[in-house]
Amino acid sequence: MSNAESITIGRAREHESAHLHVSGEARYTDDVTAPAGTLHGAFGLSRIAHGRIRSLDLAPVLAAPGVVAVVTAADIPGENNYGAVVHDDPIFTEALVEYAGQPLFGVVATSHDAARRAARRARVEYEELPALLSAREALAAGSFVLPSERITRGEPDARIAAAPHRLDGEYAVGGQDHFYLEGQIALAVPQEDGCWRILSSTQHPSEVQHVVAHALGVTAKDVTVEMRRMGGGFGGKESQPALIAAAAAVMARKTGRAVKLRLDRDDDMLLTGKRHDFWYRYEVGFGDDGRIHGARLLLASRCGYSVDLSGPVNDRAMFHVDNAYCLEHVDIVSHRCKTHTVSNTAFRGFGGPQGMVLIEQVMDEIARHLGRDPLEVRRANFYGIGERDETHYRMKVEDNILEPLVQRLATESDYHARRAAVAAFNAASPVLKKGLALTPVKFGISFTATHYNQAGALLHVYNDGSVQINHGGTEMGQGLHTKVVQVVAEELAIDPARIRITATATDKVPNTSATAASSGSDLNGMAARDAARKIRARLAAFAAGQAGVAADAVVFERDRIVAGEREWPFAALVKAAYLARVQLWDSGYYRTPKIHYDRATFSGRPFYYFAYGAAVAEVAIDTLTGETRLLRVDILHDVGSSLNPALDLGQVEGGFLQGVGWLTCEELWWNPRGELATHAPSTYKIPACSDWPAEWHVALLERAPNREETIYRSKAVGEPPFMLGIAAFQAIRDAVAACGAPGCRPPLDAPATPEAVLRAVDAVRAAGR
Ligand code: MTE
Ligand code: MOS
Repeated sequence: MSNAESITIGRAREHESAHLHVSGEARYTDDVTAPAGTLHGAFGLSRIAHGRIRSLDLAPVLAAPGVVAVVTAADIPGENNYGAVVHDDPIFTEALVEYAGQPLFGVVATSHDAARRAARRARVEYEELPALLSAREALAAGSFVLPSERITRGEPDARIAAAPHRLDGEYAVGGQDHFYLEGQIALAVPQEDGCWRILSSTQHPSEVQHVVAHALGVTAKDVTVEMRRMGGGFGGKESQPALIAAAAAVMARKTGRAVKLRLDRDDDMLLTGKRHDFWYRYEVGFGDDGRIHGARLLLASRCGYSVDLSGPVNDRAMFHVDNAYCLEHVDIVSHRCKTHTVSNTAFRGFGGPQGMVLIEQVMDEIARHLGRDPLEVRRANFYGIGERDETHYRMKVEDNILEPLVQRLATESDYHARRAAVAAFNAASPVLKKGLALTPVKFGISFTATHYNQAGALLHVYNDGSVQINHGGTEMGQGLHTKVVQVVAEELAIDPARIRITATATDKVPNTSATAASSGSDLNGMAARDAARKIRARLAAFAAGQAGVAADAVVFERDRIVAGEREWPFAALVKAAYLARVQLWDSGYYRTPKIHYDRATFSGRPFYYFAYGAAVAEVAIDTLTGETRLLRVDILHDVGSSLNPALDLGQVEGGFLQGVGWLTCEELWWNPRGELATHAPSTYKIPACSDWPAEWHVALLERAPNREETIYRSKAVGEPPFMLGIAAFQAIRDAVAACGAPGCRPPLDAPATPEAVLRAVDAVRAAGR
């Protein structure tokens, strides 16, 4: 079915909840009517980063106004743990404190406010222990949450030694708070006979179901988790909501009442994991053209006190350290450092961005050393077609469109003329300096844990001709539900207005994966299609029988079915089929083909395909204040055959700016005692509307169907555009370099806050004198 004749596929349809979003009627977990007598919970948090609890006196908490109960680890009948992979994450810690902000106990009160006020009254005595706070400290101390990993290909040492040019350096990139507008929340409602209903703001209802069941000492069949929509997740609601939901359930069990646990923003920022910050060391040997002959790359990440998702996050960093470039002789070492800080977790890109920023920095370093345009050096290193096309994890890059995509963006954005204009501006401008950069993205699509790459759907056609679709994915604003409705409308050839998509629920579709790895529509779209095709086949067979024609002669037109001489409106055929006892509901299932991967050797095909994109950013910096401004952005991004260009453009623009925020204004700052000082919007700055550049040209690559058989040949879009934000950082670095002597290497780590930019400007100026 081509897009030209499609009903909704490839069309710019509005988000299925747009009318509710804009009118304020969209219900988030906190808006759902809670049962009468619902109580409110709050966490009591540790104040120290590392130590033993000598005594915990909760009597003053219990005596506070409105308090109904306090809960501790002793109130958990099952397992006191919410760890996603390894069971090292206590819900309430018992004896050992491993980060400042760790939950020690819970308070249940008649109001949210009363619970929060009471939580502060606890009297805790600690025996403080020394704390490791940064990845570098932990690396030096040999403190890791997981064994270090290594991928080596070819003979990097010999190639580096023999190369005409060599460079080495260090680099660091900060973490990032998810800053979803809707914070973490769960509502736990006791049901009859030991059963539970949980409303949770989660990307992973099945994980919440399992953790709640384990904590309560029941099994999955006794717990139903429901999720209609999130006000943003960004990876922060993959593993973290299990803590919130399990604590709420324990509180509800103790009081016998429904309990809502809605984290205050400060608590949310203190006690939930963030993007891993990384520290890097690199050594490269390269030719006169900038092509890398050999590279040694060391990546060390701050995982925090526990494992959480740090294994796959750091694996993905290793997989993406090549980005668009073929590293034929390379040694990659990845250290997963254990620190006394909050346990870091998934965040858009899932470690991929932290791999890519390193190689982009190396490309820039090489270019400055050689006095070449960084774009030339990048292109000299691109994966080839038919040669230099195997990644360091032995997967062939079969769908490489880097060169034509980047060529086109460079032309359409007038890159070369603007490079000259920026140089001319800088020559005449002592205080303001401009910078320009073009960076590409190649991002692998699929969960690296192969078993997550499966999905289910449940489709009901009611006998009035209306339709309900349910699937295992969750809606967090990205538009997944809209796309799945489009798929069902297309397959049944009906108006999308006939279809209602319902809240994700573990009692409708079981054993679901997190909505993550950008594969929500790839997986659930296919599962929904499978279900819809079963119904369509049954309707076709029924219509064929009625008309006395072959089933494949039945034509589905928009809301109309034609079979020989007979013709029915959709609803009429459905009603007739129902009366003739035809099954009008069914399930669908999908699992991604072709993927396989051996974690022991880091080789195989972990990704079904790659998504590509590129961005050009132009910035100005003020060398007196260090302030930066994004002046213009040009983006060309590959989503295969777009399912919905309006939603996809939204993902590209939003992802890009979130990436810019990570590398420029968003700074997490821990004081020397290990307390996060930036735990509110007053101290943690995310990009605002005003940070969007005045001039922007954002386009989807057209006529670029996925060569793999994905849903209507589309490509995943959720995470890849995040990494386009690297262009803005490299443009800032370019502007800083304009303050120094030719060939200078600005000492600028990310985020490029005004302070960091000012320090880098001072450093390159001092070196040039
Ligand atoms: N877009 C919005 N508006 N809100 C979000 O929370 N999360 C991102 C991305 N886009 C997010 C978003 C992340 S981290 C992922 S993995 C994907 O959406 C998940 O959804 P998808 O697989 O349906 O694209
Ligand atoms: Mo996205 S980090 O895979 O939820």
